[in-house]
Amino acid sequence: MSYHNPFTPPRKSATFDDHTLAEIRRAAATGIYDIRGAGTKRKVPHFDDLLFLGASISRYPLEGYREKCDTTVTLGTRFAKKPITLKTPITIAGMSFGALSGNAKEALGRGATIAGTSTTTGDGGMTDEERGHSQTLVYQYLPSRYGMNPKDLRRADAIEVVVGQGAKPGGGGMLLGQKISDRVANMRNLPKGIDQRSACRHPDWTGPDDLEIKILELREITDWEKPIYIKVGGARPYYDTALAVKAGADVVVLDGMQGGTAATQDVFIENVGMPTLACIRPAVQALQDLGMHRKVQLIVSGGIRSGADVAKALALGADAVAIGTAALVALGDNDPHWEDEYQKLGTTAGAYDDWHEGKDPAGITTQDPELAARLDPVAAGRRLANYLKVMTLEAQTIARACGKNHLHNLEPEDLVALTMEAAAMAQVPLAGTSWFPGKGSF
Ligand SMILES: Cc1cc2nc3c(=O)[nH]c(=O)nc-3n(C[C@H](O)[C@H](O)[C@H](O)COP(=O)(O)O)c2cc1C
Repeated sequence: MSYHNPFTPPRKSATFDDHTLAEIRRAAATGIYDIRGAGTKRKVPHFDDLLFLGASISRYPLEGYREKCDTTVTLGTRFAKKPITLKTPITIAGMSFGALSGNAKEALGRGATIAGTSTTTGDGGMTDEERGHSQTLVYQYLPSRYGMNPKDLRRADAIEVVVGQGAKPGGGGMLLGQKISDRVANMRNLPKGIDQRSACRHPDWTGPDDLEIKILELREITDWEKPIYIKVGGARPYYDTALAVKAGADVVVLDGMQGGTAATQDVFIENVGMPTLACIRPAVQALQDLGMHRKVQLIVSGGIRSGADVAKALALGADAVAIGTAALVALGDNDPHWEDEYQKLGTTAGAYDDWHEGKDPAGITTQDPELAARLDPVAAGRRLANYLKVMTLEAQTIARACGKNHLHNLEPEDLVALTMEAAAMAQVPLAGTSWFPGKGSF
């Protein structure tokens, strides 16, 4: 007797979907967990779930041809003798030399400089390419201390103390041996060709009081000139922001779970940390509670793709944003132009995330000299500059439509949410109502 049911087609499980089944088989076959780059691939509440209201009778728009909408931002106004002023609030996030090729670092510097914004070093130290081509360069001070050099602290325009990243709050990164070339090994004081795991916490602190001492040390080394940022992954944004302010930060960088990484465990990327959208309001609330909103600047990152995303982050209270993944795409990463080669690697443009393996056909996330030479840093820098310009213009257009003569005048009142989740996280009303869930609680 057959139990086959001819009336209903076979039904797959939503819990055990194709990807999950493939992951179980992969784990069973190999005995190792998956490591990859990029940010979370699952759908989480995001800026797409918010809309601007624009102006009508009750609000008055600005006339684009005659009335200016300012986009500048000054970072580091609290303590630094030399704060940084940028023409656009879109900065380039820290991405390590090692994860990226020297040419890619140069291209980021070129593009950011044309656009009047800053770029940032990463794990592994400062390269001459990026210092030489970046008008404003932020130097990361990381738990691993790879490539840390006191002279480079002084060559930088600002210092970013990295406590964590949105892709892996509480965790460290990975750099596979195939990317530890002679140059990378030399800069990091590591043996060539051997896999490296970056530390998940700073070796000389056990808590927030040590962070305060560390910031003072960095200020002394740099003669109190440079703005000091603290970067945290989006985990407990209210308390982390408050503690960063207490420790003496000039700027807080807050990276949500969509934030890219060069490489870490997939299980980490997909299961640890909070969506960027959920991080902003608690952080802004902490700044407001301390009377520090706009005095300590807030830079938000994690999944920023367009001028609309920028405008929404700013409307929720951020002073600026940082982009990583989108900047790499603008340089030429994951470009369909290289599809044949992506296919040979068993992937496709748009899904290529094995940045740690160093085989990037676009020459961006690689240390292979032949692949790296494919990226023309001048042309790639120009593409990045174009992209930054478009995003700035887009954000400006939205701000004008909301009647704002500076991007920083955008406010939560300009926004509504499309979903209950986004309304609760962003604390803006569900569209068509004056209500959002969870008022007053984080
Ligand atoms: C290739 C790559 C390398 C990265 N390296 C670092 C790093 O060295 N230090 C760090 O703090 N963050 C690093 N990040 C994270 C970025 O600074 C940033 O937080 C993140 O990319 C922002 O999210 P987005 O990629 O969605 O724009 C890296 C990200 C990428 C994509």
